[in-house]
Amino acid sequence: MQTPYSHLIDLNDYPVTWWNKVVKLGAEIYQHPQRYVQACAGKIMATLFYEPSTRTQMSFQSAMIRLGGSIIGFDNPMSSSVSKGENLKDTTKVVSSYSDILIIRHPMAGSALAAAQTADCSVVNAGDGGHLHPTQTLTDLLTLHMEKGRLGHLTVGLCGDLLYGRTVHSLCKALSCYEGNEFVLISTPELQMPDYILKILDQSGCTYRVETSLDTAIGELDVLYMTRIQRERFASEAEYLAQRDVYCLTPEKMAHARPDLAVLHPLPRVDEISVAVDADARALYFKQAQYGMYIRMALILMLLESKPKHDLLHGIADAHLRCVNSKCITATESYLPHRFLQTDDGMVCEYCEERVL
Ligand code: NCD
Repeated sequence: MQTPYSHLIDLNDYPVTWWNKVVKLGAEIYQHPQRYVQACAGKIMATLFYEPSTRTQMSFQSAMIRLGGSIIGFDNPMSSSVSKGENLKDTTKVVSSYSDILIIRHPMAGSALAAAQTADCSVVNAGDGGHLHPTQTLTDLLTLHMEKGRLGHLTVGLCGDLLYGRTVHSLCKALSCYEGNEFVLISTPELQMPDYILKILDQSGCTYRVETSLDTAIGELDVLYMTRIQRERFASEAEYLAQRDVYCLTPEKMAHARPDLAVLHPLPRVDEISVAVDADARALYFKQAQYGMYIRMALILMLLESKPKHDLLHGIADAHLRCVNSKCITATESYLPHRFLQTDDGMVCEYCEERVL
């Protein structure tokens, strides 16, 4: 199968037809896992997790093991040479020479794009700061395909931390590419969807509305995607505490929802979905986490079929431009070539997609 890259940094680097192939393969593996038990025999996957993870890391690991491959990696960078001050470039260069596919999660936006520039194997973005989380989105697409039977013509409510939640950024970008989707963006004014995602929605022709009340919106939704308030991305604890308990999905709220609503959540849940909702047949988040393993099996198979590519940067170099985002990987990895993309809205950093000065 021909793909533009053998990396997965941003789903939008691939055409929708490719996403659909991954989803179709994920569904096939879900139905017939025994057919794939030797598919990656002799292959090694490395997981470099600079940030905590349960589902993403373990679903990738179990995916590779179920494909007959092996795994190496760390989930605590302080137990690796990162604690001695090693940069991302050197770690990536070396670990990629030990493995066939490298899965990276890192707190800085654009870190997977940075890693892919030096890697000698496929790189997968398993979450780069508050930026993107494409494999969660593939998980969400497989869940919708299996549970709703379609990826378009859905009214999707996204609720909670839309500012820092990378899962909703990736999901919005992806679902805006399918026809007929409508979005209800439910958040406090402080945690609204970033402008660059709203621009993408505008350009896609999808309709969306910004809403502060979950109660008002719940009755019109086919899908409700709840998210955790991303405590680790706030500047102060006080700002986090002010947002923490604003939204909570309860059985009382579910009583006003459609009988075929799909409640999704990338997990981990904190308090935004009451445990009492778990017994409701419309609560699909644990099933969603399981689909995550099957879609990652499909993704590993598809990426391992193609060759790595290094010329990943398409933006221009301009000595007068600077990315001022302190959460961008260019702020901490000083050797990285700075590149900027022209958008309708001005120049943006190619790594983190924030506007530059
Ligand atoms: C999400 C993440 O890490 O962005 N979790 C996940 O990957 N399943 C969501 C979150 O941490 O809230």
